[in-house]
Amino acid sequence: MPGAVVTGWGIGVPDKVVTNEDLSARLDTSDAWITERTGIRERRIGGTTSELAITAGGRALARAGRRGEDVDVLVLATTTPDAQVPATSATVQEALGIAGGAFDVNAACSGFVYGLVAGHGLVLAGARRVLVIGAETLSSITDWDDRSLAVLVGDGAGAVLLEATDGPGELLAWDLGADGSLRHLLKCDHGGYLYMNGKEIFRHAVRVVVESSLAALGRAGLTPADVDLFVPHQANARIISAASGRLGIPEDRCVVTIDRYGNTSSASIPLALADALETGRLEPGSRVLLSGFGGGMTWASAVLRWGG
Ligand code: ACO
Repeated sequence: MPGAVVTGWGIGVPDKVVTNEDLSARLDTSDAWITERTGIRERRIGGTTSELAITAGGRALARAGRRGEDVDVLVLATTTPDAQVPATSATVQEALGIAGGAFDVNAACSGFVYGLVAGHGLVLAGARRVLVIGAETLSSITDWDDRSLAVLVGDGAGAVLLEATDGPGELLAWDLGADGSLRHLLKCDHGGYLYMNGKEIFRHAVRVVVESSLAALGRAGLTPADVDLFVPHQANARIISAASGRLGIPEDRCVVTIDRYGNTSSASIPLALADALETGRLEPGSRVLLSGFGGGMTWASAVLRWGG
């Protein structure tokens, strides 16, 4: 059976950096509170979801030495589409000249891992190349006078190109989950602003990341001790350290980029993965655990052996 491996990756982030000091100047908050309670120091704000996705996707293709016409399917994970209809993937498909199909996935902050698992499934079903992008402009659905949310969010995009390989591929196991009875904890009505019950999300987040990670690792025949690199969703540095602590994964094997980007929802895991790749933290054979959670609630984990 054909497997898939990542052959290219790239990110797209707005130029504009908004620091905690910038927010403290206009909101009743402080750098000390934000840093201590969330781990965030700055975030990028600006652009549209499609613009950021086009930049990230174009870079992933360039790194792999491919062009849009080589791609069979584009999977775009986002919870902040440019419009309700058409899907944002339509804009990205045109800009990148993608020859095949294109669709959006909305699984909130778990979206990229949902898209990645779907992408591997498409390769199994016969696709040769699938471009998976996580892209968000959470700033567009944030009430900038609400300090409880304004300090958390950021904009950005990250992309990977999956290519079919003769070998077994990189995806060892996955776990996708949802519990719609918790959908009231994080929501945004049409035309409205993001609402979040932060305390409840925090509590469930640590639980589902730990359970989902263990489920995926178990299916791969691995334990947390086998994980070379843990790439969690970047919602709060305290959630990352609580989850990695319960899993028993040392902090030096966790990727943390929330200090620079804030919570970028679907974009956070591919941004963190790209950071790990750029800083040489992954090599062929590395066992990588990706795990995310988000509104819905949804959760998603994937275990990869880097390079297949
Ligand atoms: N600056 C200063 N004080 C603040 C701020 C702020 N920005 N925000 C809240 N406070 C105050 C509160 O009013 C409260 O004051 P009080 O004690 O006088 O009532 C105090 O700080 C503590 O507030 P808590 O809400 O208890 O703070 P907590 O430690 O729970 O942190 C946070 C809040 C950061 C939101 C945390 O609960 C969290 O990260 N939750 C999970 C968020 C998450 O994972 N979301 C997932 C998806 S998000 C998405 O998809 C967009």
